[in-house]
Amino acid sequence: MKGLILSGGKGTRLYPLTYTRAKQLIPIANEPVLFRVIRAIRDAGVNEIGIVIGETGPEVREAVGDGSRWGVRVTYIEQDKPAGLAHAVQISRAFLGDERFVMFLGDNVIQGGISPLIEQFASSPWNSQIVLTRVPNPQHFGVAELHADGSIKQLVEKPAVPASDLALVGIYMFDAHIFEAVAAIKPSARGELEITDAIQWLVSAGKSVHPYVHSGWWIDTGKPLDMLSANNRVLEELAPGNAGTVDDKSTLGHHVIVQAGATIINSVVRGPTIIGENTRLENAYIGPYTSVYHDCEIVNSELEHSIVLEHVRLTNVPLRIVDSMIGRYAEIGHTTHLPRALQTNLGDHSKLWVP
Ligand code: TTP
Repeated sequence: MKGLILSGGKGTRLYPLTYTRAKQLIPIANEPVLFRVIRAIRDAGVNEIGIVIGETGPEVREAVGDGSRWGVRVTYIEQDKPAGLAHAVQISRAFLGDERFVMFLGDNVIQGGISPLIEQFASSPWNSQIVLTRVPNPQHFGVAELHADGSIKQLVEKPAVPASDLALVGIYMFDAHIFEAVAAIKPSARGELEITDAIQWLVSAGKSVHPYVHSGWWIDTGKPLDMLSANNRVLEELAPGNAGTVDDKSTLGHHVIVQAGATIINSVVRGPTIIGENTRLENAYIGPYTSVYHDCEIVNSELEHSIVLEHVRLTNVPLRIVDSMIGRYAEIGHTTHLPRALQTNLGDHSKLWVP
């Protein structure tokens, strides 16, 4: 088995963060989503991984390197434009050869424990295995309609009137027949070669496509609120621990992770929450479901249910910051100058809500 991770695309729905950072590298519970995906594939015993990269390729290459950190070998596959998931498969042919493979979307976060599924496919007679899950809004996804015996009747990408609530999760397993399928399909109305159409081609050609219905959680981190939801779920799963320095005036609640080199002075931290390496909290309140990444400084300020990236500084902020994503090197402070006004230096597509 080989692994294929799709880490191209633009991530327009996550602007402004994705102007300067590949969306797959945005951390959830202080680990980039892409790293979590690499671990999931490695845990299934797959050591040869191809990563499809686009415009943000140099950044992905720098962050992931040759994969040795995870004990895997990474090959990069350049995609000149985000022409669709099936297009990404097509251009990966030389890397994949005729081996069976598992394909993961590099921005999807799924509850752990899917390794047995991948192992099972490796030794199965199926041509493909797809992962489905029940969603409240199937019209936004590839949707599967099943026969009474559980086999696949039909797959449709983003149907206006969905035939079921079973959406395709961003994990797919294929044998080499998928290359016939991607060569046979045509671009969709949005101009992309859709993986849903390629899988439908396999079904129509009488190939065996095995559907597995996943009952745990799964989040496609397309939008900021999805990122926060994924952060909530992953934080709940992590084991608490303190590798930093916490003074005796501070209170750590349940389920708090303090990473190496972090310093917590006269502060209250309620979990589930993670405080990154070399981050300093002083007279701060950090509420539940918050991830503060490495090298941040939060002084005389309050933060809750948020994701904060590296080197952020919050100093004397008079209001609690909630439900927020804050990009690298951002600073939020307090001014006593007149006029008493909001003073900003926001990047393109930034959003600011003032109470
Ligand atoms: P999408 O979320 O479908 O696309 P996107 O990343 O361009 O996002 P947006 O709609 O916000 O602009 O992509 C799913 C994953 O697959 C993501 O990790 C990017 C990757 N991808 C590729 O590698 N190549 C492609 O051609 C496409 C469409 C996506």
